[in-house]
Amino acid sequence: MSSIKYIEEATDYLKHRGFDKPDVGIILGTGLGKLIDSVAIEAEVSYNHIPNFPTATVEFHKGKLIYGTLAGKKVVLMQGRFHIYEGYSLRDVTFPVRVMHQLGIKHLLVSNAAGAINLNFKKGEIMLIDDHINLQGDSPLAFRGVEKMGERFVDMSAPYNLEMNRKMEQLASDNNIKLHKGVYASVVGPQLETRAEYRYLKIIGADAVGMSTVPEVIVANHLGLPVAAVSILTDECDPDNLQPVNIQEIIAMAAKAEPSMIILFTELIKQL
Ligand code: HPA
Repeated sequence: MSSIKYIEEATDYLKHRGFDKPDVGIILGTGLGKLIDSVAIEAEVSYNHIPNFPTATVEFHKGKLIYGTLAGKKVVLMQGRFHIYEGYSLRDVTFPVRVMHQLGIKHLLVSNAAGAINLNFKKGEIMLIDDHINLQGDSPLAFRGVEKMGERFVDMSAPYNLEMNRKMEQLASDNNIKLHKGVYASVVGPQLETRAEYRYLKIIGADAVGMSTVPEVIVANHLGLPVAAVSILTDECDPDNLQPVNIQEIIAMAAKAEPSMIILFTELIKQL
């Protein structure tokens, strides 16, 4: 079966379950699920019920796709995303983006938890992603037949939509939210970086590092789908004073910045 057929099967299933022409797609990062409390939910489906959704790991049996109204718009939200470190291919990781696009979304919003490489940025703050560096050693577009679904040599001169980013910066200023702007580097994970790797990331121009987002953004660009993304900075990656990773603290930091992220996303959706 072709990729297009897989996408159509999943989309048809969701349409029958009430996912009716969403305007905006939203991917929520680790520890960033509270936006769902603001959604008037009309339908929800577990990932493992959606035909062709990649659900090989136990963790993702609790992942859900949610449909409803947020800020006056119809939205489809991913509660939980797929990561390359779980053993998925980048085509699997990005399959939901293609399905949300086929459902009809016109914009995509993405969030993630990330480490701050730029030490002027502090944990608990937010960074608007302006550009990225793909260090995952692979592309979600490296497969036979990709040219039937869009261009093979996708332009990446402005991967994050300039208009959405401009609006997000204005909203941050209007709402007194400190919003940094910078370059996100994606790594495979799941291990955190060594001191030498943090030094390297700084030298090559990264402001933040994480294990997601870049594949989804590449596919959004392949589809011509305007996308914006924010990193919630959960730890400070200072190679000269590196503390052992503390997952509890990372989750606590994500929770601290989450209300600001919710304001930014909700207000942006009103303007889309
Ligand atoms: N590195 C990679 N991924 C992360 C980090 C980090 O320091 N913090 C949160 N996600």
